[in-house]
Amino acid sequence: MKIAVPAEKNDPRVAASPESVAKFVELGMEVAVLKGAGKNAGITDEAFRGAGAVIASSAKSLLKDADIVLKLNRPLPDEIAAMKKGAMVMAVMNPFDDKKAVEAMAKAGLVAFAMELMPRITRAQSMDVLSSQSNLAGYRAVIDAAGEYASAFPMMMTAAGTIAPARVFVMGAGVAGLQAIATAKRLGAIVSATDVRRAAEEQVASLGGKFIMVESDEEGETAGGYAREMSEDFKKRQAELVAGHIARQDVVITTALIPGRPAPKLITKAMVESMKPGSVIVDLAAERGGNCELAKPGKVTVHKGVKIIAYTNVAGRVAADASQLFARNLYNFIASQFDKDKGGLAIDWEDEIITGTALTKDGEIILPALKDSEGSA
Ligand code: NAI
Repeated sequence: MKIAVPAEKNDPRVAASPESVAKFVELGMEVAVLKGAGKNAGITDEAFRGAGAVIASSAKSLLKDADIVLKLNRPLPDEIAAMKKGAMVMAVMNPFDDKKAVEAMAKAGLVAFAMELMPRITRAQSMDVLSSQSNLAGYRAVIDAAGEYASAFPMMMTAAGTIAPARVFVMGAGVAGLQAIATAKRLGAIVSATDVRRAAEEQVASLGGKFIMVESDEEGETAGGYAREMSEDFKKRQAELVAGHIARQDVVITTALIPGRPAPKLITKAMVESMKPGSVIVDLAAERGGNCELAKPGKVTVHKGVKIIAYTNVAGRVAADASQLFARNLYNFIASQFDKDKGGLAIDWEDEIITGTALTKDGEIILPALKDSEGSA
């Protein structure tokens, strides 16, 4: 069984680590990594070689006889063309954003898995790429905010006078938001947070944050633990509550997402204008349209003195750890389907972690929700 790890385009992360390579080799697999694939994540070719990988000099030769291809992002057309029929490919695929790209993988006879669709069951927690990457993004959002903010985060009592602590407000207290709260607290800020899921209240409080939320009987959480789109009445009352609060904040970090929907717009232009000049907003939902009306995905902009940071791929700004964790997620996924007695990799097509993530097989799209969806968006 041959595993190939190409280099990502426009992403500093890599889908394997020396640790994951060594573990695959232990399972009896051969691993080849493209020359320089780990460079931007601080992993040298020597480190991969030392773990037992072969270093390939061209993507074409790397991919042509691979049984499994490990990637961060959906394979590009030239990568699809280079892979052999029947090869498996695992990555974050965003299949609902571009059904045609998934059709191309089906047509090429690839067996594609979308790692971000991993069901959130206890057994699959170690394979959950959304959690591993969001956690680092939440951390990095606070570091980016602190870097752009012209004042200090902690309260400082100096001979020259006292510096007040920064006020940080986190909107969306899921995986990224909770890590942002913890990081901002560690830096000494006064932290508050909001969410539409009532369950978040206890988690925010346990990290020392103050929770604010609209009083309502409306249930913001789906059976799967995610947020749902709220009613117009709720949104209006949330906006009123948030407007008064935001005006008093120095830093706002937004992480709010609703699966399968554009990111909810939570910060209007008027709210941005209510903040003091020098304040900072970090919009972690930029990739899905942004939570802040003025966010420009991929850019840092300034509106009336307020900096709006809307980097995409924020986990990639912590590329070494993000690669390590992603590589572990992929290893755990593959190892869960490995059975020595059955001679190695034996995919259980009834297993919910497979039925939940498998997009294509035998030339067809097999993920039910995608099969029934309309063409590309
Ligand atoms: P996410 O990335 O989809 O959304 C981020 C946060 O934004 C969520 O907390 C969501 O409730 C919140 N949000 C959505 N709309 C909002 C709005 N209009 N205003 C304010 N907040 C809004 O969610 P994430 O971070 O992936 O986690 C969602 C839940 O799943 C959490 O409860 C988390 O603890 C749970 N989880 C469970 C796992 C497991 O059981 N294996 C693994 C990871 C997370």
